[in-house]
Amino acid sequence: MKKISETVFVCNNCGNEFSKWSGQCGFCKEWNSLKEVKSSNFKHQTSNKKREVVEVKKLSEIKEENNINQNIFSTQISELDRVLGKGIVRGSVVLFAGEPGIGKSTLLTQLVGKNGGLYVAGEESAEQINLRVRRLGLSAERFDVLETNSVEEIGQILERTNNVYKIAIVDSIQTMTTQNVPSNLGSVNQIRECTFQLIQLAKKTGCSIFIVGHVTKEGDIAGPKLLEHMVDTVLYFEGEKNGDLRILRVSKNRFGPTDEVGVFKMEEKGLREIKSDEINLLSGKGDSKIGSAITIVMEGTRPMMVEIQVLVTESFAPMPTRVFSGIDTNRGRLLVAVAQKVLAIPLYKYDVYVSVTGGIRLDDTGIDIAVMGAMYSSFKEKALRDKIVLVGEVSLLGEVKKVRGFEKREKEARAMGRSVAIINSIRELKNLI
Ligand code: TYD
Ligand code: MG
Repeated sequence: MKKISETVFVCNNCGNEFSKWSGQCGFCKEWNSLKEVKSSNFKHQTSNKKREVVEVKKLSEIKEENNINQNIFSTQISELDRVLGKGIVRGSVVLFAGEPGIGKSTLLTQLVGKNGGLYVAGEESAEQINLRVRRLGLSAERFDVLETNSVEEIGQILERTNNVYKIAIVDSIQTMTTQNVPSNLGSVNQIRECTFQLIQLAKKTGCSIFIVGHVTKEGDIAGPKLLEHMVDTVLYFEGEKNGDLRILRVSKNRFGPTDEVGVFKMEEKGLREIKSDEINLLSGKGDSKIGSAITIVMEGTRPMMVEIQVLVTESFAPMPTRVFSGIDTNRGRLLVAVAQKVLAIPLYKYDVYVSVTGGIRLDDTGIDIAVMGAMYSSFKEKALRDKIVLVGEVSLLGEVKKVRGFEKREKEARAMGRSVAIINSIRELKNLI
């Protein structure tokens, strides 16, 4: 048996493990991301159990009922089904990650409310879960709550009640421990070993397990990144805390696509699904406003209408202020520079604030021209033309380039009673106000 050294170095960014420290991660190439972690030999205790006789499996003899499609069931939440592929695969493990307070427990409580299941409460008491269940207007009958921090106790319940639960929620992995590993609660080894055991349990009992993992802004080392390679599916629940839109993304999926996105809105009584034809993040209806532009972004394979607002005001500070929320800061700076040069507007004397309504984050260069349009509109103190949509990437020379999914975006604009303004250069913005 290979000897495992006492310490390993784990990359904060991709979760890969190395026996030696180096300045750059050999896998994802991130700099200064390796952190020293005390290792135990837990891998040997769990994954290397000796088998008496080793046998191979003939694929041709595997029965039809083991076919994935026949083992998928709907979550009864269509936005969640869409992101997962078609639904939940029996016996699979989903890592459900997101920042604290984003709504992970809320969505998973709603999932159990619709399907029934076991809720393993590592952070909250059964009373707190009960309050949430009532607040969400769900039937308490469907919930079995296990208050524990011990994976062995989860195992005991799932094995004893074999096949009773289709779904189990483990909220959260950071609060789980196992006797198999001596290290502390929340340590890398604990979290990994707990996950490993939960995966074994899911396989053995056919229960599908959703593991909640908190991510911190700093990309905590003991966070979900470390578990991505172990589980079947990784979902990220995102949104700005002060906005109420929530986006569910999938970053890994053994059973389905990875480019689908689910959209929800956090309301008084829980998360409401936002359907494709209802997505309208406009802060107000009606005529266009000064400093505002409408664009269509692609979230996965679906187009979505978004309003960009820009405020350009005279600056009295030696260094003008630049605030970009919802778009990449470097992209924002670049657009300001291009506007200054190509449109010849003296933005060095102006503060510029850019925001995406609904508080979501966009990583889509197709919004460039809308940011530019809203900026120009604010500077000129004139609203853009009514009923238009701006879609396109802006080059360093101020040209407007066509982007991925243009036809889909155009269709969506038409469905919303608008049309895409076709311009080839940002200089033509003056024709639009
Ligand atoms: P929660 O699901 O507890 O977040 P997480 O598990 O990701 O940490 O959500 C917490 C926030 O959501 C909290 O600020 C209150 C808010 N909330 C609502 O707005 N409506 C609701 O119906 C519920 C249950 C929570
Ligand atoms: Mg929670």
